Amino acid sequence: MSRPLIEARDVRVTFDIHRPSDLPWTPPAQLHAVNGVSFTLEPGQTLGIVGESGCGKSTLARALIRMLPASGQVIWQDGTDLLTLSPRQMLKYRSEIQMIFQDPLASLNPRMTVGDIIAEPLRTHRPGMSAKERKDKVRAVMERVGLLPNQINRYPHEFSGGQCQRIGIARALVVEPKLLICDEPVSALDVSIQAQVIGLLEELRRDLGLTIIFIAHDLSVVKHLSDEVMVLYLGRMMEKASSDELFAEPRHPYTQALLSAVPIPDPKIEKTKQVIPLEGDLPSPMAPPKGCVFRTRCPKAQAICETVPADHLTGGHHTACHFAGETVSA
Ligand SMILES: Nc1ncnc2c1ncn2[C@@H]1O[C@H](COP(=O)(O)OP(=O)(O)O)[C@@H](O)[C@H]1O
Ligand SMILES: [Mg+2]
Repeated sequence: MSRPLIEARDVRVTFDIHRPSDLPWTPPAQLHAVNGVSFTLEPGQTLGIVGESGCGKSTLARALIRMLPASGQVIWQDGTDLLTLSPRQMLKYRSEIQMIFQDPLASLNPRMTVGDIIAEPLRTHRPGMSAKERKDKVRAVMERVGLLPNQINRYPHEFSGGQCQRIGIARALVVEPKLLICDEPVSALDVSIQAQVIGLLEELRRDLGLTIIFIAHDLSVVKHLSDEVMVLYLGRMMEKASSDELFAEPRHPYTQALLSAVPIPDPKIEKTKQVIPLEGDLPSPMAPPKGCVFRTRCPKAQAICETVPADHLTGGHHTACHFAGETVSA
């Protein structure tokens, strides 16, 4: 087997929260936004990361590219732990890992032309490139993502949401990254446009051999694109398995509940299917439940779940639950 392109080991991100009402000598409260996330991603594979808003998806993505301080290890293909690098050393890897964001228009500078926006990473990462080479490269990548090269002098507001996301994808691809991190790239788009953007990402993966981390809050969005899927809840991994296995045989009660809420296109099946309700509200991430973090909303919770964390993940199909098939308690 080839070497993984990227491997995250026990990644944690903690925010210190200072509340205005706190007395000056009160220590800050801690929010564990990402709490022990690990994964291995082989070249050319796609990892889907799913979970409700606030579960730590964007924080994890930012930690991987050093936009936020994190603990643990993020091992790149060449054996380097990215979390140990200085900002200058990290620059080299930043051209190999590019990111696209949720709000396509907001992530583009409104005062720059599309050509300049897409060329910007080249100015940073390929300073030796001539203006002519840069322009050729920009035109080629525009064509690759389905934009017309003659739109190079237009401004972002002249484009639709779906086209703006294509501009974001072009800007990410222009430096020929190995890893593309997509943070909810289609959440802000209409359903029909979502399918087009996902189709484009699929094409790029096939044609360029791109490795992708695809973040979404909805399981149905990651289904077709992902080789492996990780489900997060309050900063922790609940379940991680191959996409086929996770969708055919979800083992964690949280995944089962999320999947039961995904509409099925066939109305006959849709009518008979049972939606598993999630009890109560999402607990505050500042005060997560003791024991298993999911237990306050879990239909299967027992006494053990109140005291013993269910973080122990084993086997190829990881499930952080005391009552899931392969789980072995620590
Ligand atoms: N800069 C920050 N300072 C303090 N808390 C933050 C910061 N960024 C995110 N958080 C908190 O961390 C948690 C995870 O946030 P985020 O990663 O944005 O979730 P998601 O992308 O899954 O919606 C949330 O509780 C959020 O409020
Ligand atoms: Mg987010």
